[in-house]
Amino acid sequence: MLTQQMPECGKLRVLVCVSGGGTNLQAIIDAKAAGRLKNADLVRVIANKPEAYALERAKKAGIEGVCVSPKDFPDREAFHRAFLAAVEEAAPDLIVLAGFLVVLPEEMISRYRNRIINIHPSLIPSFCGTGFYGLKVHEAALERGVKITGATVHFVDEGTDTGPIIMQKAVAVKEDDTPEVLQRRVMEEAEWILLPRAIELIAAGRVKTAAGQVCIEQEKELDEI
Ligand code: GRF
Repeated sequence: MLTQQMPECGKLRVLVCVSGGGTNLQAIIDAKAAGRLKNADLVRVIANKPEAYALERAKKAGIEGVCVSPKDFPDREAFHRAFLAAVEEAAPDLIVLAGFLVVLPEEMISRYRNRIINIHPSLIPSFCGTGFYGLKVHEAALERGVKITGATVHFVDEGTDTGPIIMQKAVAVKEDDTPEVLQRRVMEEAEWILLPRAIELIAAGRVKTAAGQVCIEQEKELDEI
């Protein structure tokens, strides 16, 4: 079994990648401010869009924000190189994709194997994979008529939402839900709780992986996180 990304000493250096509003980033910032991220520091936020409100949230929290937009590069390869350089400059121990709508370069996935996590707004393997992002996930859940949905934090591998599952939390679907209402409930009741908790568990060295499965040591002790 492997213990994930414990730095030799000091706190886990966390880099957060964002594309939009950044409410998940805010949940991480708030957890840090509330003392619930004892073993992690937020070192940089990277956005792929200059207008991402998440950059504003980073600024307000005193975290360095960087924008690397594909629009500023002649092709995908040049964008990937610049993005990877911005990642490496931050020397992260853990990379958190918090609503980051960019397919990562394969080189980055193998370089940071089991050091990149993503939050997905459904209970994987339901409503995930190519095309399932943002409101589309909740539209599909409502269309299928599921009574329970939720969120998943997982390690990122070469597939789309296929990496080892770290944590999941269920959320009830209500009869008159719209995709927007359901999206908000999944965020409030699952995403904003799970993501900071997963980061602290990893930072505390409690997350182990073996054969594509994750096990979390002594999670009960971490109820406070
Ligand atoms: C969240 O629903 C997250 O699960 C998904 O993208 C959304 C990002 O929202 N991957 P925000 O930018 O954190 O507000």
